[in-house]
Amino acid sequence: MPVATKGKVKVAIIGSGFIADIHADSFRLMPDEAEVVAVASPAEYEPEKLAKKFNIPRIFTDYKEMLAEKDIEMVTIGAPNLLHAQMTIDIANAGKHVVCEKPFCMTLEEADEMIDTCSKKGVLLMYAEELFFTPKYVKAKQMADEGAFGKVYLVKQCEKHFGPHAPWFWDIAKSGGGVFMDMGCHGIAFCYWFLDRPKIKNVYCQMATHVHTDKTKGEDDSICILEFENGAVGLIEDSWARRGGMEDRIEVYGEGGVTYADLHMGNALPTYSEYGFGYAVEKAPTTKGWTYPVYEELWNYGFPQEMHHFARCVRGKEEPQSTGEDGRLVQQVLYAGYQSAGTGKKIDLPFTPKNVRRPIDLWLNPGK
Ligand SMILES: NC(=O)c1ccc[n+]([C@@H]2O[C@H](COP(=O)([O-])OP(=O)(O)OC[C@H]3O[C@@H](n4cnc5c(N)ncnc54)[C@H](O)[C@@H]3O)[C@@H](O)[C@H]2O)c1
Repeated sequence: MPVATKGKVKVAIIGSGFIADIHADSFRLMPDEAEVVAVASPAEYEPEKLAKKFNIPRIFTDYKEMLAEKDIEMVTIGAPNLLHAQMTIDIANAGKHVVCEKPFCMTLEEADEMIDTCSKKGVLLMYAEELFFTPKYVKAKQMADEGAFGKVYLVKQCEKHFGPHAPWFWDIAKSGGGVFMDMGCHGIAFCYWFLDRPKIKNVYCQMATHVHTDKTKGEDDSICILEFENGAVGLIEDSWARRGGMEDRIEVYGEGGVTYADLHMGNALPTYSEYGFGYAVEKAPTTKGWTYPVYEELWNYGFPQEMHHFARCVRGKEEPQSTGEDGRLVQQVLYAGYQSAGTGKKIDLPFTPKNVRRPIDLWLNPGK
């Protein structure tokens, strides 16, 4: 249970890689509600580097030792997908609030145990889906909620680049799946959230490995269609096969209007450089020639706003906008999507097969 009811929320981060850096930076950017007091990551991942960069005072190589620290109230998980469930359960059992990165976990059984443990221990389980906080997408939703587009019948979300930065993403034993698991989870959550969480009737999905067969058994391209009970459709496109850097955009169509939002092109400086420069945008292959450097990158994604919100939830100032139940729903749709791609059929929800080791197995070995 939380030990303090006022002051800054004392946060610890598990992991010292890509997203752990974003978590730490997010609390630095919005420092009024929370402070990062500890980081834990195995020695080989050099947690001291992250600690130094963000002035984090306590460093652990075993996260369980960090969980014994009494003053820590909220722990964010920035470790590979395979580890999310056990970490969530350990954090909850230590009486601390949990922020679990996407995708939620590997199996629905894990999802249930994560939710049950947090509920029994009386801690919050917050699912880190930053698209619920992405300012441009939030604006699109506000307009939709105000009736700008009338009845919305199609929501599209698309995220594409040429593949992730760390080897474990390509190893389906650690990731649970390819691009659909990694980024399809964003699109599923986004469409569901945008439409105010209507029931999902069925899921259709197509996927393939077009480019990276040498690196992974996982899919590097996927298209997913969600049919909602209210008649609306979600269309989710993801790729690790797309050259030219990062793409993240949405389209919203209603009988009364339409809006488009492109996270990178709309917030970029079309730039030509003969010589190159430090940094353009996440996953940009080069900074020479024509590039599209972004500014305020984390803010434009919504990460600081997301972490700020979670800290406020710990203090009871806000209600979690993204929960373990959202993570579980996404997990179920991931199962259904892989099963659909494996069988060529639309899969009705609820879809809760037992003893699935990892979602991608439903595509690789669908057991028609
Ligand atoms: N919300 C987003 O947009 C977003 C973006 C990137 C990653 N993520 C998610 O964050 C998670 C981590 O991804 P990443 O890109 O940071 O990967 P990464 O490879 O950059 O970092 C992973 C880190 O996990 C830590 N780790 C590994 N084994 C561990 C263990 N046994 N105990 C404790 N820590 C351990 C290490 O510190 C390692 O650096 C993944 O689940 C990923 O899907 C989310």
